[in-house]
Amino acid sequence: MARRERRCKITVVGAGQVGATTAHWLVSEQLGDVMLVDIAEGMAAGKALDLLEATPIAGSDCFIVGHCDYAKTAGSDIIVITAGVPRKPGMSRDDLLQTNAGIVKDVAEQVSRHSPDAVIIVVSNPLDVMTWLTMKVSGFPPERVIGMAGVLDTARFRTFIALELGVSVEDVQAMVLGGHGDSMVPLVSCTSVSGIPVAQLIPHDRLAELIKRTANGGAEIVNLLKTGSAFYAPGAAVAQMVEAIERDKKRVLPAAVYCRGEYGLDDVYIGLPIVLGAGGCEKILQLQLAPDELEALRKSAAEVKANIAKLKL
Ligand code: APR
Repeated sequence: MARRERRCKITVVGAGQVGATTAHWLVSEQLGDVMLVDIAEGMAAGKALDLLEATPIAGSDCFIVGHCDYAKTAGSDIIVITAGVPRKPGMSRDDLLQTNAGIVKDVAEQVSRHSPDAVIIVVSNPLDVMTWLTMKVSGFPPERVIGMAGVLDTARFRTFIALELGVSVEDVQAMVLGGHGDSMVPLVSCTSVSGIPVAQLIPHDRLAELIKRTANGGAEIVNLLKTGSAFYAPGAAVAQMVEAIERDKKRVLPAAVYCRGEYGLDDVYIGLPIVLGAGGCEKILQLQLAPDELEALRKSAAEVKANIAKLKL
């Protein structure tokens, strides 16, 4: 796809912690003009104006404005859905299911009507179920509805490995698949430090602890904050996905995508390695997983399917 002749129009729905932080990353990295939308009167407008007033200092020419009115989002190229409630200490992401389903259903109807050609990135939790719901409600082709989780979970894993070894985060490569929850599947076989397999650098037992910390990464932050969940790293992860789409970079990243037979899975959203470009999910990569990894992926997908079945719409 040719480069756009105008700046990319990015709608971010939900101007709370994740939405506003995402907008901050998008504007500071000059990825496009941003429409911030929130149901709370003044919230989106106020945060957007504050951010706009930072652009002369940041040296960003991107425009940002906030509204309650979805008509203003018309013709967006990319839509990020962060609307919904975050969890509190002791809650799992699945505890948010029915509340966030009602919110995300409403948002998906509105944004898809006003921007029928957009690529949608879903962030609201429980992530895999909300992405499935958005695809069904919008009627968009699955390639254009993707969930942000794998980039975040992988970033957490990379951070913990870099801290453990005292090396640059830039040199740590990893791939975390599966659902965005306790059953996520960090692939040790795809984890390396400048090409050196991680198993040569970190003993097996210690690596298992880092994997556990990764799977528990969201809860670790919730327990510290006590009044909300993570937002800096989620916002940065969304910005990386937006950049891949906006610049048609064909990045190889993990993301929640719709399965039609891949890895033996069907009619479910789950984190898989994809090629992310202007068309959204342009390809799902089929890896030769170890038997235990494949089993873990299927178990994770079964949990997502069970939650899809619980949706009351
Ligand atoms: N339309 C638009 N915005 C809505 C709607 C709606 N129907 N319902 C709620 N919102 C807005 C709220 O007004 C609030 O500003 O969504 C925002 C959510 O912000 P926070 O409460 O700060 O939650 P946040 O931490 O941003 O998390 C949002 O992302 O990571 C996930 O688990 C997290 O599901 C949660 C979502």
